[in-house]
Amino acid sequence: MPDLDTNRLEREFAQRVIGHKFHYHQSLASTMDETRRLALEGASEGIVVIAEHQTKGRGRFDRKWVSPVGLNLAFSILFRPEISHLPLINMAATLAVCDAVRDLTGLSPEIKWPNDVRINGKKLSGILVETEVQGTEVVHTVVGIGMNVNLDPRNYPEIALIATSFLAETGRRFDRADVLRSALQHLDEYYAEIRAGNSLTHAWAERLETLGKLIQVRWKDDVIEGVADSVDDQGNLILKRPDGSLITVVAGEVTLQV
Ligand code: BTN
Repeated sequence: MPDLDTNRLEREFAQRVIGHKFHYHQSLASTMDETRRLALEGASEGIVVIAEHQTKGRGRFDRKWVSPVGLNLAFSILFRPEISHLPLINMAATLAVCDAVRDLTGLSPEIKWPNDVRINGKKLSGILVETEVQGTEVVHTVVGIGMNVNLDPRNYPEIALIATSFLAETGRRFDRADVLRSALQHLDEYYAEIRAGNSLTHAWAERLETLGKLIQVRWKDDVIEGVADSVDDQGNLILKRPDGSLITVVAGEVTLQV
């Protein structure tokens, strides 16, 4: 039996949208590219592509995403959402990861706007959303999720101070299938909420560690500073600048000021 029994998960998820089909690979360049390739071949919404090893795993801002083989989870999910639902997909993914961490560990992770899941200021999971739009239609959206499960960050000096994992937080090893199952079940449920026309903004805002904090947001060469006031229904961040004016931030990298 492979370490991660995706055949079993596929049977369990047969009636769901998310996870009705799994594509398991020992090695891929990136699960993002493979999911996009399958999408262009006509794959149905909800397929999950998972790889033990990625030779070109990527994060936001084209950063490398490196993950040791067999310890963590690296997977992507294909969505074909209505364009109006697009901003909610990132909320669903971050919330689903938080719920999986909470269910399995009892801990309360927080979201660093817009899509890092952290515990005590250390990153446990990163989420990448890539969308192709034609006119007013979404061709596809690929959500990539990297989760640190049995990684011991102390063994990796370059991330030791900024990363955490299920193992680091609890001292216990976890079955990665349990983590994947929980995250995908929650994602399937949040996606059903989205399709039913329900908002996720309130639940998402409650988990955002960023709100109320003095932050800097970087986007390309621009840096804006202010207090993170709130988020709107699109997931944009409303920042209160030192002069009291409000500005809507659509994208960028947040640094918390201490
Ligand atoms: C980030 O924190 O910048 C996002 C990281 C996203 C990493 C995941 S791992 C699975 C999927 N495949 C990739 O190449 N990236 C995402």
